[in-house]
Amino acid sequence: MDKEKILVIGGAGYLGAVLNEKLLNEGYFIRILDSFIYGKKAVEKYSNNRGVEIIEGDIRNIETVNSSMRDTGCVVLLAAVVGDPASKARPQQTIETNYLASQVVASSAKINVIKRFISASTCSVYGVGKDILDEEAPLNPVSLYARTKISSEESIMAISDSTFMPTIMRMSTLYGYSPRMRFDLVVNTMTMTAFTEGKITVFGGSQWRPLLNLYDAADAFFKVIEADLHKVGGKIYNVGSEAQNYRITEVANLVAKGIKEASGRDIPINIEGENVDARDYRVSFKKIQNELGFNVSHTIPQAAKEIWQKLESKEIKDPKQKVYYNHYFDSSEELVG
Ligand SMILES: NC(=O)c1ccc[n+]([C@@H]2O[C@H](COP(=O)([O-])OP(=O)(O)OC[C@H]3O[C@@H](n4cnc5c(N)ncnc54)[C@H](O)[C@@H]3O)[C@@H](O)[C@H]2O)c1
Repeated sequence: MDKEKILVIGGAGYLGAVLNEKLLNEGYFIRILDSFIYGKKAVEKYSNNRGVEIIEGDIRNIETVNSSMRDTGCVVLLAAVVGDPASKARPQQTIETNYLASQVVASSAKINVIKRFISASTCSVYGVGKDILDEEAPLNPVSLYARTKISSEESIMAISDSTFMPTIMRMSTLYGYSPRMRFDLVVNTMTMTAFTEGKITVFGGSQWRPLLNLYDAADAFFKVIEADLHKVGGKIYNVGSEAQNYRITEVANLVAKGIKEASGRDIPINIEGENVDARDYRVSFKKIQNELGFNVSHTIPQAAKEIWQKLESKEIKDPKQKVYYNHYFDSSEELVG
């Protein structure tokens, strides 16, 4: 596709912050639409960048959504209330944003003749499953978050035709350092508790979870943006790698390995009681690998090492601040000094 402007909705978030950089490095112009629930830190650096336009607005406002579509060749929808704890804390906002507003965004893109539309979904739609689950596997959501993501997928796909060709990206649980950091994602949480408490605590630990580095996730979005639209339009992809379907205890060991490399320290892993998260599933990523040649190139130990170094260098001063945990809906930036 020509280097048209890409509308990145939710571009100030954890994944958006990394995807923006990737798109800019590849020569795209971007327009970021975000309500900045978690502050503006990730996009402040673009204030004098002529390749970036920033709109502060809420996708629950139809006028905001519709006017943000002008002169764009592609829409990437990342904005959502993200994660089970956040959706539990604000169920109405979750339904409004993840389902109802995402329908409006898709309809607005379609009427504005924007064919290429890429929406972030999650492997959490599978919830619990025994087999290795591909895109045709039954959905088994165990949270409001996952239910709203399924409803969003269905409503976007329902208006798919030759004039509007959406792609749904069911991503694994992300990990790694982002300019908009989250410490409520399993790898990041484990690295943070190793740093602050000197140990990693695992609840249960035998449950399976697919993991994906956020730079690999941004690469997957990029592949879809650049692909022939007839190849990716109207499709759902699981995004991740089968090699990174892990049991949570394995994740803890890989985090400890990265920290050992970063600091020389041996971090003890305590396994306690019951799993508090009902999700337990393994996912097949053959479709995206076969059709788009997508392979991951980042690992958990590398990410844990990088996050540890950010903590040690005090680039992140206080990882316990509310701004790093979605369910607090906190927009205060990390205090300087
Ligand atoms: N992080 C993960 O592990 C993961 C895994 C699978 C799927 N996903 C999906 O990827 C997407 C991005 O997730 P993330 O981790 O970057 O989350 P995030 O919470 O860091 O980012 C979401 C962004 O959306 C914005 N937003 C929320 N509601 C809005 C609204 N009504 N109007 C405008 N902006 C709004 C927020 O301000 C925030 O900047 C989400 O759709 C999420 O469901 C994330």
